[in-house]
Amino acid sequence: MSGFKNTYEDDAYAAAYARMEFPGTYYLAYRDLPEILSEHVSGTAALDFGCGAGRSSRFLKKLGFGVIGIDIAPEMIRCADQIDPGGDYRLVSPGSFEALDSARFDLILAAFPFDNIPMTMKPELFEGLAGLLTEGGRIVNLVSTPEIYTNEWASFSTKDFPENKQKQSGEIVKVICFDIDDQTIVEDIVCDQAEYQRVYAQAGLRIIDSRLPLGRQGEPSDWVSEETIAPWRIDVLERIA
Ligand SMILES: C[S@@+](CC[C@H](N)C(=O)[O-])C[C@H]1O[C@@H](n2cnc3c(N)ncnc32)[C@H](O)[C@@H]1O
Repeated sequence: MSGFKNTYEDDAYAAAYARMEFPGTYYLAYRDLPEILSEHVSGTAALDFGCGAGRSSRFLKKLGFGVIGIDIAPEMIRCADQIDPGGDYRLVSPGSFEALDSARFDLILAAFPFDNIPMTMKPELFEGLAGLLTEGGRIVNLVSTPEIYTNEWASFSTKDFPENKQKQSGEIVKVICFDIDDQTIVEDIVCDQAEYQRVYAQAGLRIIDSRLPLGRQGEPSDWVSEETIAPWRIDVLERIA
């Protein structure tokens, strides 16, 4: 997609992102994952697709998974290696899974990479990932909802980007994250649930569970929109037989 830059291919931004764990709104992205994974995933071989600086890989490792993390941003993989020298983090070219040899995974977690992947590339990538699953393996796709780009949050602001409200699936939206020291404007690609369903079907996948985690009273952050509007969606996918 012309004019779209992967924000994460930048040393300063990667270093700032690497310092972040699960603050504010991010807490909700990960809060329900242990329960979702124990309900849907058998086995412990995991691929963390778009592992970034390794936050999601380390999360899976703590849950008992053996994890390979892959990413296209060398800056992020360098940070992942520094934080977790014993981890298995691999730099890949976009859409290429050759670095994985013949590995097969019980779980493929995609924690946010599809927010940065153009629509034209999504079906092919999901098809490639589906081919890496074991029999009965699951893909868990954690993405931003379109609403994240049009509301205010504990961790994010979009008020300076009123044009986000007019954007359709596949178009670029802008957001600022308060939890990253380097408050760069991040460009994402908005995608609604109907469009994701089309992408999944094209890739031979179907949704078996879909969650929209909401904030609750008494949680570590002062929620802004999180108690009434879900910032994230978590889709659990299986291969259509
Ligand atoms: C928002 S970060 C999330 C990192 C990590 N999963 C986490 O939760 O902290 C998204 C990552 O997806 C990566 N990414 C984008 N397109 C990708 C692709 N085609 N293949 C692999 N990784 C990709 C980016 O480089 C970035 O590091």
